[in-house]
Amino acid sequence: MNILLIGSGGREHALARSLSVSPHCSKLFIAPGNPGTAQHGTNVSLDVTDHQAVIEFCRVMAIGFVVVGPEAPLVAGLVDDLTAAGIKTFGPSRAAAQLEGSKAFTKDLCAEFNIPTAAYRRFTDAEAAKTYVRNYGVPIVVKADGLAAGKGVVVAMSFEDAENAIDMMIGGGLGAAGAEVVIEAFLDGEEASFFALCDGTTAIPFGTAQDHKRVFDGDEGPNTGGMGAYSPAAILNPELQARVIAEIIEPTLKGMASRGTPYKGILYAGLMLTKDGPQLIEYNARLGDPETQVLLPRLNSDLVEAFLAACDGKLNTVSLTWSDKAALTVVMAAKGYPGSVEKGSEIRGLDKAEMLDDVIVFHAGTKQDGDRIVANGGRVLNVTALGKTITDAQAKAYEAVSKIDWPSGFCRRDIGWRAVERERG
Ligand code: AMP
Ligand code: GLY
Repeated sequence: MNILLIGSGGREHALARSLSVSPHCSKLFIAPGNPGTAQHGTNVSLDVTDHQAVIEFCRVMAIGFVVVGPEAPLVAGLVDDLTAAGIKTFGPSRAAAQLEGSKAFTKDLCAEFNIPTAAYRRFTDAEAAKTYVRNYGVPIVVKADGLAAGKGVVVAMSFEDAENAIDMMIGGGLGAAGAEVVIEAFLDGEEASFFALCDGTTAIPFGTAQDHKRVFDGDEGPNTGGMGAYSPAAILNPELQARVIAEIIEPTLKGMASRGTPYKGILYAGLMLTKDGPQLIEYNARLGDPETQVLLPRLNSDLVEAFLAACDGKLNTVSLTWSDKAALTVVMAAKGYPGSVEKGSEIRGLDKAEMLDDVIVFHAGTKQDGDRIVANGGRVLNVTALGKTITDAQAKAYEAVSKIDWPSGFCRRDIGWRAVERERG
């Protein structure tokens, strides 16, 4: 069948690579895609906010299956509109994507179905929120309810930080996303991500990962969309994974189904591993970026078959197989990221990096400019390597980074440090 993939980042390059090798995939189109996805299919400049235009494209190109990468089109109901038009589409409905689109929605679901998460209160009034914080104490976490492109969470160590965050969010600093805030207890522990592939009733594991959100080595500096990641996350041992499934994922699926909004698609649980067990920090209604770039290279099973089974409610018949190898990705970003960056600097040496065994360079924010590849965003490349251990994958990834000639870029030098320390024992 012909497949249309929606999105343009490193996640979509990884998805395009895995979808395109499936025997079920005839032609692959990516809207809008990037120079990396163009290695695996045809990029098309579709306005994905225009759902009717996407439907028309699917009719003209005889698309049999659509896969949605990013959260914005999910929350905007693209899956609902395509499905209503008779086009099979992978991803949650608008109502189910509220698990990512509204933190208040998710916290209320957790409360109703006894899912372990930080204690919380919801506020639309800044003064009431501040009074609550004063009575509660710090540290405390202030979150904008809606989608805020990674800027919606402030872990406040002082009253001043908490109050500034409340004023900024409720005052409109994040637009409509911050009109309501969730204030929650600070959770102490190590963070890890668990991914589940869901068909409305059944969830099957789709891998584990850990990422590095801070921009500088040693986990210092401002938060970013992620400067690197690795999979698997050994800290999520089989026993903890079983608890995550039983205590967090399955009650979520049951809760969503009982409300008449079954969850289909990837459910990405951001977890805090506390001394009392795993707690849900947040849900994402999609694969992570850059986590996908370390999950999919380890997947041996056919991705199209797996996603189709999720759409068709048939995951109880599916078991996925994964490589024993570990994967690690280093994000190369344009200098200045996560602040403003310059676009257009040339990147050389990608072919040299990719000549190394078990190395894949995913494009995240690049542009084809004649026969040159130039930077076109903040996070630009995801240099990914497989290895027997995270330590091996890390060495290989940094060897590949050293082949890339891009003076206007930078990367962290310590991606995977927790896992490498653990492997050293
Ligand atoms: P989120 O967008 O909800 O994943 O939050 C972004 C980051 O803020 C998380 O990855 C955590 O590092 C941190 N965070 C969010 N909620 C909490 C919490 N309740 N306690 C401690 N850290 C948190
Ligand atoms: N890497 C974090 C995310 O995809 O949300």
